[in-house]
Amino acid sequence: MQKNIALIYGDCSSPEIVTQAVRVLDRIAEKYGHTFTYTRAYMGGEAIDKFGDPLPQSELDKCLASDSVLLGAVGGPKWEGMPGDKRPEKGLLRLRAGMGLYANNRPAKIWPQLADASPLKKEIVEKGIDFIVVRELIGGVYFGEHKTFEQNGEKVAVDSMPYSEHEIERIGRIGFETAMKRRKKLTCVDKANVLDTSRLWRSVMHRLQAEYPEVEYNEMFVDNCAMQICKNPSQFDVIVTENMFGDILSDEASEITGSIGMVPSSSLGATSCGLYEPIHGSAPDIAGQDVVNPIACILSAAMMLRFSFGMTEESDAVENAVNAVLDAGLRTADMMAPGCTKVGCTAMGDAVLERI
Ligand code: IPM
Ligand code: MG
Repeated sequence: MQKNIALIYGDCSSPEIVTQAVRVLDRIAEKYGHTFTYTRAYMGGEAIDKFGDPLPQSELDKCLASDSVLLGAVGGPKWEGMPGDKRPEKGLLRLRAGMGLYANNRPAKIWPQLADASPLKKEIVEKGIDFIVVRELIGGVYFGEHKTFEQNGEKVAVDSMPYSEHEIERIGRIGFETAMKRRKKLTCVDKANVLDTSRLWRSVMHRLQAEYPEVEYNEMFVDNCAMQICKNPSQFDVIVTENMFGDILSDEASEITGSIGMVPSSSLGATSCGLYEPIHGSAPDIAGQDVVNPIACILSAAMMLRFSFGMTEESDAVENAVNAVLDAGLRTADMMAPGCTKVGCTAMGDAVLERI
């Protein structure tokens, strides 16, 4: 197969991980007889430096013309003082919206080799952690009206959180469909005791529920869910939730699995052209030292192979190689444990390549 991949190298330590993920993709292409070509696109801090805009139309167009986009992470102290619409993160939000990627899939699965790195008690981890956060990605408070104004001699800021029924229905359906392919359990997470948007979510979810009688469906307030994720994570199979709750819960979910440096994500909309990125940030504190963990980015590339290109065997090959590297006791600093061998970013990339 021939595929064109848009690459966004990102900011701070991000180019280091994207470089390793591209080496892995090249190895897959070589081994399985595919041709991957790459188009470099700029987004985030890099685009601000180059164009004065975190996502110029030309760069969005490159992504839209590609078969899928691989991204590291954007942002960093250099751009922290920028106004809201000129921040690197704004480029990411515009990219997600411009590509219509409403469904963000963030797996939280414990790697047995990393069980000791989980901050949870052994007896909780042993019950199993294997769930997915299906996060709505292009609606809600991230995309509602944001304004700051003067009132009665002081500043007032407002961020609004709109959701319409069709936005809820399409992500709700992804939640049910994802559950059908797994253990058939779906939890809708919201704040229906306070928010109108949550009450609308529930009414739409109830309509959908009738179409998926096999799915065991329940609802949970987000504050309780945050607690349950650390108290009893084995109860979850698929969580479906709105944009900001999904942002927060997926960080918590990744941490209990051992390291946020291991968690990939996919974002998809109506077509197979998706955006694949680790859920972690650009780790400015360790940039340029070749110590960052490239695995989340490598696993994001594996998700691209599976979900956008239908390359199941190839995706399995990458995931198995990562598994073998962990079995061999190789660890980057973020997940280093006694008795293991500490390696840097490039050496971790080498180790994965050797096992494909
Ligand atoms: C994420 C990140 C982004 C988000 C930021 C960088 C805007 O935290 O992908 O989880 O909040 O969506
Ligand atoms: Mg986040």
